[in-house]
Amino acid sequence: MTDERFDGLGDGTDFESRFRVEGRRLTRLLGEIYGDHPALAEAEEAALGLARTSWRERSADLRDLDRRRLADPGWFQSNDMLGGFCYADLYAGGIAGLRERIPYFRELGLTYLHVMPPFAVPEGNSDGGYAVSSYRELDPRLGTMADLRRLGEALRGEGISLAVDFVFNHTASDHEWARRAAAGDPVFRDFYWMFDSRDQPDAFEATTREIFPDDHPGSFVQLDDGTWVWASFHSFQWDLNYSNPAVFVAMAGEMLFLANQGVEVLRMDAVPFIWKQLGTSSENLPQAHLLLQAFNAICRIAAPAMLFLSEAIVHPDDVLGYVRPDECQLSYNPLQMALTWEALATRDVRLLQSALAERHALPAGTAWVNYVRSHDDIGWTFADEDAARLGIDAYGHRRFLNDYYTGRFEGSFARGVAFQFNPKTGDSRVSGATASLLGLESGDAGALDRILLAYSLALSTGGIPLIFLGDEVGQLNDYSQLELPERAGDSRWVGRPRYPARKYAERSDPSTDAGRVYSRMRRLIALRKQYAQFAGGELRALETGNRRVLGYERPGPDGPVVVLANVGDDLEHVEPEALAELGGEWTELISRRPVELQGGVTLAAHEVWWVVRP
Ligand code: GLC
Ligand code: GLC
Repeated sequence: MTDERFDGLGDGTDFESRFRVEGRRLTRLLGEIYGDHPALAEAEEAALGLARTSWRERSADLRDLDRRRLADPGWFQSNDMLGGFCYADLYAGGIAGLRERIPYFRELGLTYLHVMPPFAVPEGNSDGGYAVSSYRELDPRLGTMADLRRLGEALRGEGISLAVDFVFNHTASDHEWARRAAAGDPVFRDFYWMFDSRDQPDAFEATTREIFPDDHPGSFVQLDDGTWVWASFHSFQWDLNYSNPAVFVAMAGEMLFLANQGVEVLRMDAVPFIWKQLGTSSENLPQAHLLLQAFNAICRIAAPAMLFLSEAIVHPDDVLGYVRPDECQLSYNPLQMALTWEALATRDVRLLQSALAERHALPAGTAWVNYVRSHDDIGWTFADEDAARLGIDAYGHRRFLNDYYTGRFEGSFARGVAFQFNPKTGDSRVSGATASLLGLESGDAGALDRILLAYSLALSTGGIPLIFLGDEVGQLNDYSQLELPERAGDSRWVGRPRYPARKYAERSDPSTDAGRVYSRMRRLIALRKQYAQFAGGELRALETGNRRVLGYERPGPDGPVVVLANVGDDLEHVEPEALAELGGEWTELISRRPVELQGGVTLAAHEVWWVVRP
């Protein structure tokens, strides 16, 4: 294809050559998405123009970062990587307060900090910041954009990458575009999905699912003047209309603005939902991928250091679809997350083991973000067909897991809270803090070991492990969060506690639960950083022949780290046959003991082994 806009520029590594290569990719993608849309040519020009101006405005500091990242594109695969996330206000009283916590972040070993959305929001309920009124201003209660920039700089100086959200599927209903749309401005009505009658909403809703049924049924809400507007999440979060190329351009501008504030990882919120099409679920459509690739292309030109993290909490096949170097280089791993909980409840690792064997591998140049829990509910997004192969009925199993983690199941150790029970489908999810979900609140004797087991998996299966800050000192559910009226109806807040000051103060005291969790977590983190086998994502599943014991190896040039983890409440044996190939002497890293594997091993309840050649 010849396109003279890209001719005669650059030599291969600088802006001009990126512009040439990625600009061409960008226009090809926009062509694929928008076909013969009359506004296509204008959008292409505008997008390329944005890339140029944004690069021109990029600071020397960030350009230097760009150079370093381009020279070392696999930097995020390092076993040194450790992520944490928190709410600026709850954790530190605001953005400036977070800067003061940097010494602690270093103590913990963080190299990545995700600050939950700090942007301007509507009054009252803002879905925890996920209803954005302006991408260029912060919520004044948290600080200013200059504070965020300074935080990014300070973190970068300490080797910590700043991550923030790009809430790009929807804006708040009081965003300027939305207000103009509601006032009848035809240009901005086209930024959203607005209809005067129920015909189109009815047609779309015949095939879409309900995300927050407690808030409103279906995918649309009605405004006072009778207009129906698409709102997948809350009624005050209006979905953007990306079938309008002007929306892509406008949002690309907001994205590049954020990139130039020093954001290194952009958490791409709710990616499955960005493209809608009649007669489909309007999730995970091919155009959603093309749009992400187009955002990626413009970013490669103007802010090449910035990575995308996909937030797709959907069927594992669909999750995988977003993870490509030219789309999202990083993705949450909701399958491993959900199945970690599943294995701890059932004391049966088979589903998790099969996920590690069959659904863990990623394309080169990409990585999982492995987490025990997010700020959201835990949804049971494993594949029904995987469960069926093990003779498990997925529907019944999800009901069991919901009952188990909300403590309704007889003998359960968990203290979770149900989220978004949908009587029409029987679907539900679970909210709560890790320690409460794993038995610390109910006083279960296995709680501490289970917390460490869960985090040991996130720390050892590859990619970037991510800690909900406070979990490392065993923070519990914070029921007082529901006292604010705008939070009362959203049980996810129970799992979003205020900074647990007392627990942090106790973290060096081994006679406290906080101290025990923290010291053991620190040990795991230190080992992860020490052993190169934990870098990257390569993993070989190791069938232990015991359904309570998970097994895998992380290969490395000096031999693997062999991981064994007992999810059961009793001693468990792994018979010699399963370990036959692992002859000779080994060292168990966590307990610093010499061990042999070949003759079979016995693990204590909830025990984890990380074993290497001495
Ligand atoms: C993502 C966020 C969640 C939010 C939703 C809508 O799933 O993690 O907290 O409610 O998007 O923005
Ligand atoms: C968001 C919501 C979560 C929901 C998911 C659906 O992540 O927070 O509750 O299950 O979207 O994809």
